[in-house]
Amino acid sequence: MILNMNFKNNKYYFECINCNIQYSADEVQYLCPVCNAENITGLPPKGVLKTIYQYNNIKIDLNFNSLKKTGFIDLLPIKSNISLPFLKTGNTPLYSLTEFEGKKLPFRVYLKDDSHNPTFSFKDRASALVSAYAKEQGLDTIVAASTGNAGSSLAGICASQGQKAIILVPEKAPKAKLTQIVMYGAKIIPVKGNYDDAFDLSVKASEEFGWYNRNTAYNPFTIEGKKSVSFEIYEQMKFDIPDRIFVPVGDGVILSGVYKGFEDLLKLNIIDRIPCIVAIQAKNSDNLVRNIGRQPFEIRKSNTLADSISVDVPRNFYMAKDYLKRYNGETVTVEDDDIIKASLLLAKNAGLFVEPAAATAFAGFLSFYLSGKLLPDSKNTVLLTGSGLKDIDSVQNYIDIPKAILPNISELKKLI
Ligand SMILES: Cc1ncc(COP(=O)(O)O)c(C=O)c1O
Ligand SMILES: [Zn+2]
Repeated sequence: MILNMNFKNNKYYFECINCNIQYSADEVQYLCPVCNAENITGLPPKGVLKTIYQYNNIKIDLNFNSLKKTGFIDLLPIKSNISLPFLKTGNTPLYSLTEFEGKKLPFRVYLKDDSHNPTFSFKDRASALVSAYAKEQGLDTIVAASTGNAGSSLAGICASQGQKAIILVPEKAPKAKLTQIVMYGAKIIPVKGNYDDAFDLSVKASEEFGWYNRNTAYNPFTIEGKKSVSFEIYEQMKFDIPDRIFVPVGDGVILSGVYKGFEDLLKLNIIDRIPCIVAIQAKNSDNLVRNIGRQPFEIRKSNTLADSISVDVPRNFYMAKDYLKRYNGETVTVEDDDIIKASLLLAKNAGLFVEPAAATAFAGFLSFYLSGKLLPDSKNTVLLTGSGLKDIDSVQNYIDIPKAILPNISELKKLI
């Protein structure tokens, strides 16, 4: 079922990752209608759409710098960068970590610090693009179901764009993230139930009220927004490709965004290989990596302190799986204790305090390091996806804030 063949002349179109049917963006907004009709509630959706550009047309006279000069507009589903928020999204720092626990590291480690985004998480990359698209289409209300970061991100970005954000959250979400949503002036709607219940309600609300929906993976532009991190890593590494990129995984959209960015560059012949991407999940929330290579899909109730990656039904399971298989990605799971340990070590050794989901990526890197998997001189990048200030409760049991002392030297001496 190809709805309209003329769309092949458009700047971009969609392709369903399951049935490969292609659609014009004028006709389909979210999931592939054919595959979605067969989706079973409570299982990952099959018909997530991939955004395809006219790579052959773009290729003429192209190099990375010319793409960058135009803000990568040829690789974005919007008409103009002017539609993006004025808040500075992306272009986050990439730090080189040369020493760890007093030892010089035998390989290169780069830390991509996405807590530098306006609402302090990676999710701003997706929200900014979704918001820009909505602005161009005259859609002034955007809804999202979120466990915290996507919602606080959409709320902040919409505030900067004069758009209305409606955020459906499950009852249990870290207070800092809920506070952000309210502070940014979004309409927050706590939903009795879990993320999946909030997700389903947001989809119904979009249908009922015509609100534009930003749900992760459901809206294909969440993947397109997130891919910008790959362009930045490539440039910040002086046009080199890392050997490995460590990515924390919940729904698998960040992972797919990282792949999509490199894949776009590959299709344009700007790079000649895709880096090895390591998908890291918490051991007790491993529904994405555990189900790669197994049938039928089996859900285990997730239970990790890394709330952002505590996911029962990974919304982008099939795309993430395809990418990991096609480009020889790797997977690893880490215990919650390892996540907290990694968080403490990263903070002490690099001055970067990240939230548990982000520390999961560093824990994955440490597990590779400690098991001798990282070759000398190899280049490793770790994606730090959110600020530690978003969830200070999760580390409270692992740190000790001493009681106040009398302000004299002898009391001070007892503490140092
Ligand atoms: C801080 C942080 N890290 C990692 C992730 C995982 O991203 P994804 O669900 O796309 O796999 C999220 C998602 O909410 C997040 O907020
Ligand atoms: Zn399909």
